[in-house]
Amino acid sequence: MSEWQRTHTCGEIRPAMIGQTVTLNGWVNTYRAYPDQIFVDLRDRYGITQIVFTKDQGELWNLANSLGREFCVSVTGQVAARIAGKENPKIATGAVELHATQLRILNSCPTPPFEITQFGNELANEDLRMKYRYLDLRRQTLQQTLIMRHKLCKTIRDNLDRQGFLEVETPLLGKSTPEGARDYLVPSRVHIGQWYALPQSPQLYKQLLMVAGYDKYFQIARCLRDEDLRADRQPEFTQLDLEMSFVEMEDIFRVIENLAAEIFDRCLGISLPTPFRRMSYSEAMLRYGSDKPDLRFGMEIIDIGEIAQQSEFKVFQETLAQGGVVRGLCVKGAASVLSNTDLKPGGKLSELVTTFKAKGLAWMKVETDKLTGSIEKFFPATLQQKLREKMGAESGDVLLFVADKEPIVCDALGALRTRLAAQMKLYDPKAPVYNILWVVDFPSFMYDEEEKRWVANHHPFTAPKDEDIPFMLSDPGRVKAKAYDLVMNGYEVGGGSIRIHSREVQNQLFQVLGMDEASAKERFGFLLDALSYGAPPHGGIALGLDRWAMMLAGTTNIRDVIAFPKNQRAQDLMTGAPAAVEERQLRDLGIKFSGQ
Ligand code: AMO
Ligand code: AMP
Repeated sequence: MSEWQRTHTCGEIRPAMIGQTVTLNGWVNTYRAYPDQIFVDLRDRYGITQIVFTKDQGELWNLANSLGREFCVSVTGQVAARIAGKENPKIATGAVELHATQLRILNSCPTPPFEITQFGNELANEDLRMKYRYLDLRRQTLQQTLIMRHKLCKTIRDNLDRQGFLEVETPLLGKSTPEGARDYLVPSRVHIGQWYALPQSPQLYKQLLMVAGYDKYFQIARCLRDEDLRADRQPEFTQLDLEMSFVEMEDIFRVIENLAAEIFDRCLGISLPTPFRRMSYSEAMLRYGSDKPDLRFGMEIIDIGEIAQQSEFKVFQETLAQGGVVRGLCVKGAASVLSNTDLKPGGKLSELVTTFKAKGLAWMKVETDKLTGSIEKFFPATLQQKLREKMGAESGDVLLFVADKEPIVCDALGALRTRLAAQMKLYDPKAPVYNILWVVDFPSFMYDEEEKRWVANHHPFTAPKDEDIPFMLSDPGRVKAKAYDLVMNGYEVGGGSIRIHSREVQNQLFQVLGMDEASAKERFGFLLDALSYGAPPHGGIALGLDRWAMMLAGTTNIRDVIAFPKNQRAQDLMTGAPAAVEERQLRDLGIKFSGQ
């Protein structure tokens, strides 16, 4: 071991070591110079130790004077107790300090472009932090998050190994079999004009592994999807991907519940009660306007169709006559928070519902003896009373209504519900509350109004419920799938299904989707062939690993849990990707840029 190399980390110095000589390696976190003493907080990923230099140390003092923030140094010294009253109970090493006897500057550092030490919650602009991600990653919060993510992966591997699973890798360069999002394509140099696609998930490969007899597979897999980004979405993300043979839904649920409980226990020391609650898709949509309901708070959606029918409000009557629905929310105590301007057409809340194609937002404020607002005049006194009862309205509440086709009303009120719950502080976003549930009984097909055809709600290998198979061709809308999502605090943290393993059912499903045999063969021929070679009944799930890490780290920003994330415009600001390439590289690939 060289002399400068550390004997300990910056996080492990304790009072029991007082008097010992140790060497620490780390970065200058803070630097405080006084006339006869210099205090340096030295940081590594294990913690912080206070180092003291004194004026009588000649050369050493001069060298210490030349230090700056984020210099990388080696310090040797004696562990000593801090003077009484100067202990820092907030850090593990807070009772001691190191009296330096030797300092080696391993590397200097220019003034960092932003403050790495996080004082309070003030963070530098995210683009700047992304550009210097290697500096941002020195922040303790990010280091703790990545350590947590490591623990998450370790727990997954240990747990699934114990449950009898094998970890198998699948290719990154594959065939384009679009799964919903756009594919990232990679041109082939050897086969000019032909393309690989990067996997949106290992879905087809894991099914092939089932055909091959690897009955319990998992993989911590990178997935790539060229889709619009959001706070909880990245173009490349990680799944815990899993598949099992000879199983029904219940078996998958048991495996995941066992795993999830261990994850929460090991990573947070929290016991997650199992089995998880289950809710049907239709109940989730009706009561919460979302297939990923946040159950940390109530404020459920209320159907007021019957009352709306008796009102004189034309919009409500006509909507109901055309088969639509009228539903609303009672926002407790919001009368003093939501201004009429927020509520009126063009206002913030009204704008929010129009992004979901709702035609408008009707509202009433509840006072002791009357309702005020945009539509109360259409409700006679007795009907107003009924409305109060139905919605549990009290003085000071705001009632919000949307009338439209059912899916629009669900989306609009679902979005209002989550927005207003945050605004009205119906839950504490920082509280360690993890509300987890399975959403089940999804419809197999949705009707695409624009394309005027049925489309698969999940991927086209999702098995319909046995009892619904007879209706596949005659009434696709009533067919429910053996599909399930795992939802936590309003986030979809996993999704999967039991797959079709009968060729006949598979053909019927393609028929519903309007896909003839030839085009099905063209797209998924290899899988269909494989399924005909004695494929076992099988099913699986994929958990969004980044989203699990978000939950465990208590952040709502997916970029906080990924070492090198892309920004909202799918760019890596540090390396500058995506970027132009040399003309020669394009020539090799036979690609001509059209210049558009
Ligand atoms: P699905 O598309 O539902 O299923 O993906 C599974 C889970 O992955 C997470 N996820 C994402 N996380 C971050 N950024 C993204 N862009 C992103 N997209 C998805 C979500 C989601 O629940 N092959 C199927 C699984 C199966 O059927 O077994 C699949 O990929 O948490
Ligand atoms: P109007 O009769 O157009 O002045 O609308 C009266 C109120 O009803 C306004 O606040 C509109 O935003 C609202 N409104 C209009 N259409 C709908 C609808 N489909 N659902 C809910 N409210 C609506």
